[in-house]
Amino acid sequence: MKRILITGGNKGIGLETTKILSERGHHTIVVARENVNLENIKNCQFIGYDLRNVSGIKALVTTLGELDVLINNSGIMHACSFDNYPTQLKEDLLRINLEAPIELITCLSKQMTDRKSGRIVNVASVAGQIGHPDVWYAISKAGLINATKSFAKLVGPHGVIVNAIAPGPVETDMLNTIPVARKEAVLRTVYSGRFATAKEIADTIVWLALDSPEYINGTCIDLNNGSFPR
Ligand SMILES: NC(=O)c1ccc[n+]([C@@H]2O[C@H](COP(=O)([O-])OP(=O)(O)OC[C@H]3O[C@@H](n4cnc5c(N)ncnc54)[C@H](OP(=O)(O)O)[C@@H]3O)[C@@H](O)[C@H]2O)c1
Repeated sequence: MKRILITGGNKGIGLETTKILSERGHHTIVVARENVNLENIKNCQFIGYDLRNVSGIKALVTTLGELDVLINNSGIMHACSFDNYPTQLKEDLLRINLEAPIELITCLSKQMTDRKSGRIVNVASVAGQIGHPDVWYAISKAGLINATKSFAKLVGPHGVIVNAIAPGPVETDMLNTIPVARKEAVLRTVYSGRFATAKEIADTIVWLALDSPEYINGTCIDLNNGSFPR
């Protein structure tokens, strides 16, 4: 049984991921603000924590013991235009989407490199590859993809695997922040004429967290169904 820390494992993509990990017999530690949706999930521990508090992460991690896998999934997006973006919202977004994941990697990679084993999955977005109307969202996700490469370089030689995923739009609450016209435009660019399901994204996260070959390290798996072929 692996011990797996997943941020935002209580809703959307994270919740689907927590369910699959639990069904496969693993112990999940969900870090998020609201203790919801987890009551029937076996081997699941909830820790109420607001990831805007980046400076408290070090102390949080010391209470958790040995962890085999870190999944940086929590993320937010705002419907704000670049020239009228409230400073507080920008700072919160950068903390949750970028600084907190990097702090978690920093705090947990030492125990993983000491054991010469561990996996980290960062949930980025196609926005980090092609840009996005929420410019700070796109910048945060581009940063996370880049951090994935940097950390894989640093910890890969010590037995730790760090990868990212870059989904296009997924059927979760986050989709409600995207205007209808943009959603329709996205649907015209994908092969299947639909958004991804949270389960499809969760299956990929679980694969990287548990099953993918160790030779896949420092990469970003695209899940965009043709909207950004490369
Ligand atoms: N949905 C999409 O179209 C899409 C596409 C590409 C990438 N993604 C990425 O996928 C990840 C999951 O998104 P989702 O679609 O599943 O969205 P979601 O349903 O809105 O879930 C967001 C998660 O982040 C957590 N979270 C938000 N603020 C937090 C905070 N201050 N501290 C700790 N946790 C916080 C939430 O839990 P609490 O509210 O309880 O704190 C929730 O579990 C995000 O990183 C997102 O950027 C989503």
